[in-house]
Amino acid sequence: MEFANRLNNLQTSIYSQLAEMKRELSSSGKDLIDLSIGSPDLSPPHYVKQVISQLSLDDHAYDYTLTRGIAEFREACATWYKKRFNVDLDPETEVLPVMGSQDGLSHIFWAFINKGDAALIPDPGYPIYSDGLALVEGEKIPLPLVAKNNYLPNLSAISAANASRAKLMILNYPNNPTAAVASSEVFEEVVNFAGKHNIVVCHDAAYTELAFDGYKPMSFLQTAGAKEVGVEFHSLSKTFNMAGVRLGFVVGNAKVLKALETIKSNIDYGTFRPILQAGIAALQGPGEIIISNQNTYKRRRDIWIEGCNRAGWQITKPKGSMFVWAPVPTKQDSLSFVRDLATDAGVILVPGIAFGEYGEGYVRVGLVKDEVVISEAVHRVKGFLTNKD
Ligand SMILES: Cc1ncc(COP(=O)(O)O)c(C=O)c1O
Repeated sequence: MEFANRLNNLQTSIYSQLAEMKRELSSSGKDLIDLSIGSPDLSPPHYVKQVISQLSLDDHAYDYTLTRGIAEFREACATWYKKRFNVDLDPETEVLPVMGSQDGLSHIFWAFINKGDAALIPDPGYPIYSDGLALVEGEKIPLPLVAKNNYLPNLSAISAANASRAKLMILNYPNNPTAAVASSEVFEEVVNFAGKHNIVVCHDAAYTELAFDGYKPMSFLQTAGAKEVGVEFHSLSKTFNMAGVRLGFVVGNAKVLKALETIKSNIDYGTFRPILQAGIAALQGPGEIIISNQNTYKRRRDIWIEGCNRAGWQITKPKGSMFVWAPVPTKQDSLSFVRDLATDAGVILVPGIAFGEYGEGYVRVGLVKDEVVISEAVHRVKGFLTNKD
C-alpha cells in the first residue's frame, strides 16, 4: 500500500500521543478527569430532541435533502441572524447548511486553494484550519496570536509579499484555544486589509453564544463591507449543545457560498431532514438554553480560575468560549507539563503546541465537566503544583 503524502502533513501527531497517553493511564487504573476535549457535556433542549425522535418515524424523512438543504432551515438561519446580530441575509443565496462547521471549514479550502497557494491561518488555531489547508496541499502563512496583542492578528506585521500571495484568511472570535474576543475595530481592520489585498475572509463564529460577564460577541458580518470580502461559519454544536448532530451553517458572500456548495455537492447529499428540522426548532426556540449554557460555563470558569489562582497559578478570566488558556505554571514545555499532570494527578489538558508553534508555553483547559468534577480537578492541580515546588 502506498499512502498519499498529504496524510503526513496533518497535525494529528500530538493528539495521537495524547490519546495513547490516556489509554495507557486508564488501563493502568488511573482515575482520569479529561478536560482535553471540546465537546459539550450538556444536551439540547427537550423540544429539539423531540423533533428528531418524532420526525425520524416519518417515512418521508428519508430522502436526500441535497447540499442546500430545505428552504425552511435556511430561512430560520437568516431570521436568527437578523434577530441576534441585526444582519440581513438572503436565505436563497447567502445561507448554506453544513454538516457541522468543520465540514464547511475543511471544504472551503477546496474552493480557493490550488496546490502551493497560500492562506493566513491563526497560530495557535483550531487544527482543522491547518489540516484543511494541508489536505489541498496549500501553504500556511501563520498569523501569530500572542498575549501581548491580546491574541488578535497583527495585520501590519504581514509582509507585502505574504499579503499579496494569501488567498484566504481564517479568523475565529471568541477564539479557540485562546478564548480571546475581538472588537468591531479589529473586524473593520480585517475588512480593509482583505479588500485591499483581495483576500477572502472566513470567520469561524462557533463560540459567539458562549460569553460571560455581560459581554456579547459580534458577528463579523456586522462590519461594513464584510459581506463583500467573506463568510461566517456558525455551528449548532456549542450554541445548542448539538455537537453529535453535525449541523452548522455558513452565511455571507453569495459567490463564496456558491463555490462551497459546488464542492460539497460533489461530496455529500445533504443532512438528514429530521436534523434540519431540529435545527429549525433550536433556532426558533426561546433561547433559554443559551443563557443556561452561559451560566454553566461561567460557574465552571470561575471555579477553575479562582481555585488555580489560589494555588499560585495566575490565569486571567476569559470573556468567551468554553475554554481557559493558561500559561504553563512550571518550567516545562507544554507537552511535558501535560504528561506530568496526567500521570501524577490524572487531569488531562491539551498542550498549547497542539494548536501551532505559537501555542507553546500554554495549555488549554476545556470546561466540559460539571462543577464537582472541576473542583476535584482544581484540588488535584493544587496538590500537583505543591509537590513540584
Ligand atoms: C473553533 C471551532 N470551530 C469549529 C469547530 C467545529 O464545530 P462543529 O461541531 O460545528 O463541526 C469547533 C469544535 O470544537 C471549534 O472549536
